[in-house]
Formats: sequence, C-alpha cells, structure tokens
Amino acid sequence: MADVVNLAAAFDSFDDTWQPRRLVSVNDYDVKAVRLEGEFVWHSHPETDELFMVRSGRLVIQQRDAEGKRHDVELGPGDVYVVPRGVEHCPRTEGAVTALLFEPRGTVNTGDAGGERTAELQEPAADD
Ligand code: NI
Repeated sequence: MADVVNLAAAFDSFDDTWQPRRLVSVNDYDVKAVRLEGEFVWHSHPETDELFMVRSGRLVIQQRDAEGKRHDVELGPGDVYVVPRGVEHCPRTEGAVTALLFEPRGTVNTGDAGGERTAELQEPAADD
C-alpha cells in the first residue's frame, strides 16, 4: 500500500527554491512540491502541458506567444492554471510562494532552455 503524503510536512522538509520535490506519481505523472521566489528563466515544454496549483503566496506566470505578445496570469492560493505545451513562460513571484506541479515523469523545470537553473528532481526526505 502507498504511504500517506502530507503537504505541510512535505513543505516543512525543505526550504530551497526552484527545486521541485516529487510527492507522488499518478500513472506516468509526477506531482511535485516546489518553493518559488523571485524570477525564473523563460522556457517552454515542447512535449507537454504544465499544471501549476498555488498553495500560498502570489505567482505571476509570464507568457508570450510566437509573436511576442504577452499573456501574463496571476495566481493566488487555490488557483490552478495549465501552461499549454510549447508556450514560452517565465514564473515570477513577489515574495515566497509554495505550489504544486503536475507534469509527466521526466519533465525538466527549465524545459527547452536548460542552463544553470535546471534542477535534478529530488525525492522528499524520508520521515522515519
Ligand atoms: Ni515550465
């Protein structure tokens, strides 16, 4: 049987930002916990949509289409938003944000941009 995962305990187990932790997997999707603060890098995920569910704080997902036109959305606690595959985006916060991400196993946080902000997916610390 699977273990129960508690969100508060999961977020208490780490404090670094832009370093998603896998909480559980659902078929071939990972549900990840992440702390966000500041501005990330512009990138897209050519192969997959990316779901954001904000738990605390305010998150702006900056987006731009192929012509460079901006479509920014602001999310608060309880808000859920899906960045469609291939859409360029760059998360930005004012202050600390905690959020959940739902995306296929193997999805990289920096998408097609790569670079120094690319995070190895981390498992949550075992609580025993
Ligand atoms: Ni992304």
